[in-house]
Amino acid sequence: MISAAEIYIGLMSGTSVDSIDAAAMTFNDGQLQLIGTYSQPIPAILKRNIIDLCQPGRDNVQLYCQTDSQLGELFATAVVALMSAESIAPDQVAAIGSHGQTIRHAPPGASAIAFTQQIGDANIIAARTGCKVVADFRRKDMALGGHGAPLVPAFHQTLFSDPMKSRVIANIGGISNITVLANNGHCYGFDTGPGNLLLDAWCNKHTGCSFDDKGIWGASGQSDDKLLSRLKFHPFLALSAPKSTGREAFNLSWLEQQLTDLDLIAEDVQATLMNFTAQTLAEAIRALKEPIDEIYICGGGVFNEALMTQLQSNLGAIPVQSTQQLGLDPAWVEACAFAWLARQRLHGLPGNLPRVTGASRETSLGAVYLP
Ligand SMILES: Nc1ncnc2c1ncn2[C@@H]1O[C@H](COP(=O)(O)OP(=O)(O)OP(=O)(O)O)[C@@H](O)[C@H]1O
Ligand SMILES: [Mg+2]
Repeated sequence: MISAAEIYIGLMSGTSVDSIDAAAMTFNDGQLQLIGTYSQPIPAILKRNIIDLCQPGRDNVQLYCQTDSQLGELFATAVVALMSAESIAPDQVAAIGSHGQTIRHAPPGASAIAFTQQIGDANIIAARTGCKVVADFRRKDMALGGHGAPLVPAFHQTLFSDPMKSRVIANIGGISNITVLANNGHCYGFDTGPGNLLLDAWCNKHTGCSFDDKGIWGASGQSDDKLLSRLKFHPFLALSAPKSTGREAFNLSWLEQQLTDLDLIAEDVQATLMNFTAQTLAEAIRALKEPIDEIYICGGGVFNEALMTQLQSNLGAIPVQSTQQLGLDPAWVEACAFAWLARQRLHGLPGNLPRVTGASRETSLGAVYLP
C-alpha cells in the first residue's frame, strides 16, 4: 500500500494529437516506479478543432474557449479512469502534472512577440478528480527569456544519465527533440525538427489512417532526392540552439508547397518524409561536440520500425535502442516527465535547464490548482 500523497500523475497530449497519455508513478530516492498507465482516445471532432486552433490565421476565440473546457473534461476523464483502474484514491495523489494541449508555440526569435499556449482547463481537472493539479509549465521559462521548451531534459538527466557513457535521449513525438547527457555531467538539448507530424498528416490524407503502422506504407515507396533537399532547406534546421518548434513551422500546407511541380506518388512522398525525419535527427546528433556512445529513443516514433532502421543506418556504429532498455517504456516517458515536473513544483525545485531553453535562470515551473 502506497502511503498518502506519494503518487504523481502525468498527463500528456502532444503535438501529434494522437491520444491523451496518463501515467501514475512514484519517485523516491531517485527511483521511478510506474504504477499504471491509461491512454484516452481523442474524439475525431475534438482532434480536428485542436488542429484548426494550431493554424495561425484561423483564429476563433469561441472555439478556443470551448476546446479549453472540453479538453479539461477529457483530461479529467483520463485521470479518473486511471485512478479507478489502479484503485488510487485522491488522497494518495500528491499532484497531477498536466502539460495541456499546445495550440500555439512562438518562441523567442520565431516572432516579434514570444508566446506559447497550452489548453485544457486545470480547474476542471482539479474539480473532477479531487486532486491538486500543476499546469502551465512552459510560460514561466518563457517569461525569463527562454523557449519554454524542451522541458523533458531535466527529467532525462535525473533518470538516464551515466557517468561512464555519453548518451542521447531522443523523443520522437510530433516534433523530435534530443537531450544530450555527456559523461562529464553536461546536459543540454533542443528540438531537432519534425518527428511523426508530417508522416501522420500525409498518411492520413492518402490512406485515411491516422499513422503509418510500423512505417510499412512509407517503406513501400522510394525517397526522392529533389523533395528531400527542398525539405532540408527549412530555415529551422539551420538555427543554432536553443531552439524549439511546432506545427506552425512543419505542417501539411508547408509540405504541399514543397511538392509544387514535383510529380510523385503518395508512397514516395511518405518514404521521403521518413528519410527527412531520420536524417534531420541523425545529423543533429552527429553534429554534437561530444562523441556519443549510446542513443535511446522514446515517443511514438520508436514503434515506426522502418524509421528506426533508417535512423540506425544514418548513425552508423552508435547503437540506437529504446528507453525500455533503461527501464522505462518509451510510450510513457513524456507523461512521466510531467508527473516529475509537478513533483519539482511542489518541492520548490527547478524544472527548466537554462542551457536548454535559454531562460535567464533556473526556476520551478507551473501553477498549482487546488481541488
Ligand atoms: N505502431 C506505430 N507505427 C508507426 N508509428 C507509430 C506507431 N505507434 C505510434 N506511432 C507514432 O507515434 C505518434 C505518437 O507519438 P507521441 O505520443 O510520442 O507523440 P506526441 O503526442 O506528439 O508527443 P510529444 O509532442 O509530447 O512528444 C503517432 O501519432 C504515430 O505517428
Ligand atoms: Mg501522444
